Amino acid sequence: MPEKRQFRAIKGTRDILPPDSALWNWFEHSAQEVFQSYNFNEIRPPVFEESELFARSIGEETDVVSKEMYTFETIEPNLRRLNALRTYVAIRGVTSTNPITVDGLQQDLVELLKELEEPTVEDAVRAYPKNEFWLSGLRNAPQEIEMAKTSERGPAYQEFFDALVQRIQHLAGRLQLGPTTTLRPEATASVVRAYIEHGMHVLPGNVKLYYMGPMFRRERPQKGRYRQFYQIGAEVLGQSDAPAIDAEVLEMLMVFFKRVGLTRTTLYVNSIGDKNCRPQYVELLRQELLKIKEQLGPDSQRRIETNPLRVLDSKLPHEQEIIAKLPRISDHLCADCREHFAKLKDELKLRGIVFEENWRLVRGLDYYTRTTFEVIAEGLGSQNAVCGGGRYDGLVELLGGPPTKGIGFAIGSDRAILSIQESGNLPQLPGLDVFVAWMGLPTYATAVGLARKLRESGLSVELPGEEMKFKKSLNLADKLGARYALIIGSDEVASGTFTLKRLADADQKKLSEYELLEYLESEKRGTRG
Ligand code: HAM
Repeated sequence: MPEKRQFRAIKGTRDILPPDSALWNWFEHSAQEVFQSYNFNEIRPPVFEESELFARSIGEETDVVSKEMYTFETIEPNLRRLNALRTYVAIRGVTSTNPITVDGLQQDLVELLKELEEPTVEDAVRAYPKNEFWLSGLRNAPQEIEMAKTSERGPAYQEFFDALVQRIQHLAGRLQLGPTTTLRPEATASVVRAYIEHGMHVLPGNVKLYYMGPMFRRERPQKGRYRQFYQIGAEVLGQSDAPAIDAEVLEMLMVFFKRVGLTRTTLYVNSIGDKNCRPQYVELLRQELLKIKEQLGPDSQRRIETNPLRVLDSKLPHEQEIIAKLPRISDHLCADCREHFAKLKDELKLRGIVFEENWRLVRGLDYYTRTTFEVIAEGLGSQNAVCGGGRYDGLVELLGGPPTKGIGFAIGSDRAILSIQESGNLPQLPGLDVFVAWMGLPTYATAVGLARKLRESGLSVELPGEEMKFKKSLNLADKLGARYALIIGSDEVASGTFTLKRLADADQKKLSEYELLEYLESEKRGTRG
């Protein structure tokens, strides 16, 4: 008998259970309705993609790519043996004084090199040019071990031997046997990949797409931050970068937030320039940061080299005063970017969209140009960004497509729904309409038939599968939150009239089948009290 154990959802993941799942459905459905009214259509990209796609679009140096991606190797069946041998070599415990372990390593290495001569294996391994480098080291390894075994065991022997084994294991571990795949940390890269792959640039007008689904980031879990979380995103791709497009995207976002009662929000907007003006600003920022390096924490110090803009994102209290004095991008935009940003602000005002400018809003992904924005909401603590987005002109080209402009956003559904829940501003969601309380086996067939008819007319119906005592039946109907109990006893079956009891106030009506259906249907449509 296997040991009894209970399983729990993996750290950073969670189950969305009823009644919350109904709230989620309503939230996603509302997004679909609003987005469709702006002529956006749905795209459903896969949840995993080649790792390289994310590395190139989001940027190697970003937190998302460098620390947070769930990446795995996909090993085809012809490479399974090589994969096993690679693992034996890479993780085998070897000590110079134990000839069994040393011989074992040597043997596995010989087997590994032999396996590499199999034609299909060789071809697959050659597909990764870097492998040639690791392999040239591995080819000499069996002889190196042989020499080590027979060489004189002086005082430094142990150290020399350990270093040799470590090097061999490192080389074997680096062999790449298949493309690495990553669970998507975001979906803009996938949408752009799909846009290029399906030649969508030839479609008329702007391509306006929305998506919803799970994303994966290996972050430290906390309130509002999960390792599997959900986004609803929208992207506009096409030839135009008119500020009206940015403004319409923001209008749609804010209309959606209003529709779902997410009103205690602040919209921040910024422009981070383009390839003409940003590099100069970043250099200026780097020079200024170098002057005050000692006053900054280790993360910001590191970012002076890797990505100075991200220093502006720092939340460390002691860095705030220092950052406030740094040069601002708004003073260093080129004429085109300045005009684009000014027009965007006019467009937002035209549409009555309230926003605040935030020169420190640089975002954590590398693909942005010009417009960036974020929405924060109340009731969430430190993870209070419910939406982020911006322009990414040039990303399509970076991924091998034709020159194309792009802008979009992604809403964090977990956080947005949490904020709605915390505000208490919850919608009335449909629940159980009718509980069918049938009594006595002869009434069962009538109950089954009626339940089916009620369901077909769009009502939610619970029909107990086993006979229940009358009192127990009504009790359960109450606990399940049913609005009505439909009472079917032998008298009702004989007379063809049924008792419908409204559970909120115990009001009872006797209705024929026809009247019953009509009454409940029209009541559901809200045309009766
Ligand atoms: P992002 O700012 O990385 O942007 O994510 C967007 C939103 O996803 C965040 O504002 C937050 O609400 C939510 N989110 C991110 N990480 C987590 C997490 N670990 N747990 C819960 N919620 C999270 C993007 O992903 C871009 N693709 C947005 C975009 C679309 N830009 C242009 N187009």
